Amino acid sequence: MLAIIGGRGLTQLANLKITHRQVMRTPYGEPSGAFLFGTLNEHEVIFLARHGYGHTIPPHLVNYRANLWALREQDVTDVISVATVGGIRADLTPGKLVVPDQIIDYTHGRDSTYFDSRNISFSNVDFTLPYSQKLRNRILKSAQITQHECLDGGVYAATQGPRLDSIAEINRYERDGADMVGMTGMPETSLARELDVNYASIAVVVNCAAGRGDCQTGIKLDGVNTTAKNSMERVRSILECVVICHEEDPDE
Ligand code: HPA
Repeated sequence: MLAIIGGRGLTQLANLKITHRQVMRTPYGEPSGAFLFGTLNEHEVIFLARHGYGHTIPPHLVNYRANLWALREQDVTDVISVATVGGIRADLTPGKLVVPDQIIDYTHGRDSTYFDSRNISFSNVDFTLPYSQKLRNRILKSAQITQHECLDGGVYAATQGPRLDSIAEINRYERDGADMVGMTGMPETSLARELDVNYASIAVVVNCAAGRGDCQTGIKLDGVNTTAKNSMERVRSILECVVICHEEDPDE
């Protein structure tokens, strides 16, 4: 089954026919909100708003472990995350959609692994390719079918937040090879890998990163929210196609 984790601007899926809502509990606490079970284009999906349905949970306080654990408990095999980012690379301007293929973790102090006890056996999960290539392909194919431009690949810098970045930090991320910057990519991506859940992300560029493009002296939050809102219609349309691709190509 496919699950969609929505971020800023995507706290609901307009065409999701909700069958029921369920509050979940896990050994790691409660997820960000009740899971919405329903059908999208006749296909079963689970939806979860990462920051809660009132958008009240900041990125560093999201219970990523509970979110992923509870999804896997519901037999979720694939997770598509939708997350807003600032564009570092010059062509990643507000409104662009990107499917990242690499990630760098600059977060700290988050509960970032399920292997957090001395009394359980642990494994060093492979993270060479952090995102599921099959799921990435499905998103990119769906973007093509729905005729929405969606860029293939890019390095996501995951920062701690909730504040935005200084120009010097963005310069550093760029020197490290990052193309975009966001606050929720980690540990969500690696926790999914620890649970052996396929995971990919649609990154929605909602602003130029600090010191880039029109953000030389500051980032206007009004613009960020408007761009997020305006871009989500395309994301929804891609997701409605992804669920069909998902069913047609289970072994793709
Ligand atoms: N920096 C970090 N996270 C973000 C940004 C940004 O500019 N835009 C959206 N999420």
